[in-house]
Amino acid sequence: MILPLTSKINNKKNLTIGGNDVIELGDKYGTPLYIMDIEAIKKQCRSYRENFSFPDIDTDVIYAGKAFLCTAMCQLIEKEGPGLDVSSGGELFIALNSGFPPERIYFHGNNKSPDEIKYGLESGTGYFMVDNFTELEMLGKFCSKGAKRQKIMLRVNPGIKADTHEYIQTGKLNSKFGFGIHSGAALEAVKRVKQYDGRLELTGIHAHIGSQIFNISCYEKLVEVMIKFIKDVRDGLGILITGINIGGGLGIKYTSDDRPSNIEDLAVVVHNAVVKYSRKFNVRLDKLYIEPGRSIVGNAGVTLYKAGTVKEVNDSKKYIIVDGGMSDNIRPMLYQAKYTACVANKMDGSGSLGISDNSNDSEVSKMHYTIAGKHCESGDIIISDIELPAVSEGDFIVVATTGAYCYSMSSNYNGQPKSAIVAVEDGKNWLWVKRQTYKDLVMGDIKLYEK
Ligand code: LLP
Repeated sequence: MILPLTSKINNKKNLTIGGNDVIELGDKYGTPLYIMDIEAIKKQCRSYRENFSFPDIDTDVIYAGKAFLCTAMCQLIEKEGPGLDVSSGGELFIALNSGFPPERIYFHGNNKSPDEIKYGLESGTGYFMVDNFTELEMLGKFCSKGAKRQKIMLRVNPGIKADTHEYIQTGKLNSKFGFGIHSGAALEAVKRVKQYDGRLELTGIHAHIGSQIFNISCYEKLVEVMIKFIKDVRDGLGILITGINIGGGLGIKYTSDDRPSNIEDLAVVVHNAVVKYSRKFNVRLDKLYIEPGRSIVGNAGVTLYKAGTVKEVNDSKKYIIVDGGMSDNIRPMLYQAKYTACVANKMDGSGSLGISDNSNDSEVSKMHYTIAGKHCESGDIIISDIELPAVSEGDFIVVATTGAYCYSMSSNYNGQPKSAIVAVEDGKNWLWVKRQTYKDLVMGDIKLYEK
């Protein structure tokens, strides 16, 4: 099973992360509980920094906040990385409120409202990642002439189909994102930016082709398409674009069947492609950006649940019903995402921290279970078949690899308060986000006929 970097088993046969007994964390903070391994996040940031550092091109790593964002995470990224991608006014607020330097923020979003654009401009956001003509016009209108020019990048659609779930492919020809290169919209967008020359500074083009990508050869294609476009812009319009942002997307291992590439290999593919196509198209780039989300936080997080009822139904199918589910992890339902789990208070086997999906491997006899959530939906299944040691009510179930797109996509469905997040490191633990209370659920509610 793929547990976070610092996971171990202690002499009570409990799982520990960051030197903390997970069962004690569950007793202290309650469940469901997201546990984040700080050392694991730092290691990924470091790996991106080190591998995406080239002698011939200046490179910035921008963390994609949509994967997992809260105040403390912004503060960690502030220390560990140069940039933060936010994709809405709300994410921008979280970042600014945490003290994140606005000039290191990249403001994404494919339908920014006038208010969001004004908020971004007024707060000194470093870069607007412009998705469409409506946004471009609003930016041109709201930016005052003569003042400091607002840096922008144009999001282009390269027409590349990444090898991943179709819901998370974002660079196909018919995708809703960006200005199409093939349709000519991207060239037209560059022309229009020129009209706002005194107000907007075009620092580069951006593309994000998808997420949870294993086959990284598509990044070579992406770099080729982007540099070729830059050549066409230069030849056709005489405008020099010198930066490319290739988005995020590197896949991670959720189960032992997954064969993701790693950061080192991605860096080699991207750098080789930059060198090759800069030469081929005689284009000089001076800035490269990459925007990872999942591969920074995904493996660092787990969700700790408590088993409630353990139920045997037709054909001896056995359910473990946990105290959370689709409200804290919607990914199995949305993308048929696969997860692994273990019983954190029954960590018998030495292989528990290896890559076997049936994590508590030992002499202890195993049973097949379905791990289901507490929500009023038959589809609220987190893992449909897993072998675990016999589970009883009150056992602690850890579902691994929930650091990315779980908390950030969580909801209050069925009136479920959002789970707390605890950070662990070097034997210490502290809350990053408090558990919501029932009162939080009605915070914004107004009584019948009351104004
Ligand atoms: N940059 C942009 C513009 C993006 O839209 C995204 C993700 C990223 C970077 C980061 O991609 P990553 O490195 O995390 O793959 N909810 C889906 C994933 C949606 C990804 C959205 N965009 C999931 O749970 O699989």
